[in-house]
Amino acid sequence: MLTVIETLFVPARQWKTMNKETFVVHQPHTKLDSDNHSLIAPLYQSVKYYFDSYQAVEDLLNQKREGFLYSRVLNPTVRQLEVTLSKLQNTEDGICLASGVAAITGTLLSLLSSGDHVVGFYDGYRPTRIFLRETLKRFGINCSLAWGEDLNSLTNAIIPGKTKALIFESPTNPTTKITDVASVVKLCKKAGVLTILDNTFAGFHNHSDFDIDIYLHSLTKFAVGSGDAMGGAILSRKELIDHIRHETMEMGAVLDPRAADFCLRGMRTYFLRYDRQCENALNVAEFLESNPNTERTLYPGLSSHPNHDLAKKQMKDFGAVISIDIKGGKAQMEKFLNKLKLFKLAGSLGSQDSLVAPSELFYGDDLSEQEKKKAFITESTVRLSIGTEHPQDLIEDLTQALTTP
Ligand SMILES: Cc1ncc(COP(=O)(O)O)c(C=O)c1O
Repeated sequence: MLTVIETLFVPARQWKTMNKETFVVHQPHTKLDSDNHSLIAPLYQSVKYYFDSYQAVEDLLNQKREGFLYSRVLNPTVRQLEVTLSKLQNTEDGICLASGVAAITGTLLSLLSSGDHVVGFYDGYRPTRIFLRETLKRFGINCSLAWGEDLNSLTNAIIPGKTKALIFESPTNPTTKITDVASVVKLCKKAGVLTILDNTFAGFHNHSDFDIDIYLHSLTKFAVGSGDAMGGAILSRKELIDHIRHETMEMGAVLDPRAADFCLRGMRTYFLRYDRQCENALNVAEFLESNPNTERTLYPGLSSHPNHDLAKKQMKDFGAVISIDIKGGKAQMEKFLNKLKLFKLAGSLGSQDSLVAPSELFYGDDLSEQEKKKAFITESTVRLSIGTEHPQDLIEDLTQALTTP
């Protein structure tokens, strides 16, 4: 055994003659024979990579060869994730960053300049709206918000010759509205506006058939699955990814290789989990819709959802998020949240654990009363993210929490 280790270790010749103080710093690496393979790709946790010659480094920096030098620029494990995700979403290339928000802000900061105009949706992820309305404004980039279901409001929001991009969602966070992706793409192409779809709710296997310019994902959700790592992805054509990579490299919000490894591990069970979560979500949504203590139940898979037909047409499945209004206002909503046992009150989604979040408190505090009403957010609205547990247990937990008093 020792002989095998000695022949596989590098640099075996030097370490035999080294002092131990030097040896512990320059430890041997295990190298596998060319016919002996690791089933799971190794995790490249190293920040630094070296070459055997100056020429090799010069060639890398002059883009005459490929390779790795420093993990803020490119890391082999992160690269494996980028290639895997872009293949799933059917894009030419991708970049992974430290969080979903880093993917959103990195994309917008890479593409927009002072004097540009950008459009977002009222009904969508709150931090995206805040970034558009407050942060970008400080850099001389103005934004308008439109309503996802109202194409006229989108047409009116676009300023010809000035609007550079639209960032939107479907299903939307937190109330699962469905955007007519084909019509939005058509409208934006005609106006020369880049389409950026935050596809976090729908997942990597949905919406690839549309001519979307850039797909964004929070990997923290369905990619990782277990809720123990954060990440974000930007998936697009090579020309745009090259540009965004060049820009985000200097911003520094890189994905740690260990988090990338969690994502790669999670992706191996992505379809199993997503399918199960969708199946559970439909079961739970049907139960909630028929419960006398709920008012509006929104799940794109329910035929009562205002955009069910559109969702059926443009999605392969309906996601794992449900929005409900609890009968009896805020007081009953609070009681419901406090009584839940399996569902945990936490601000995330897409993981194996079922979660619940009060929508107004978590996602609507920057909207006016009128805007909240239009976005289907009331004081008793809660967002449920359905996990992979047995549906019977989830329904039992919801039943006891909905039972009055
Ligand atoms: C639609 C959507 N986009 C982006 C994000 C941000 O992701 P992260 O928490 O990984 O920054 C979230 C998080 O909830 C989200 O729901």
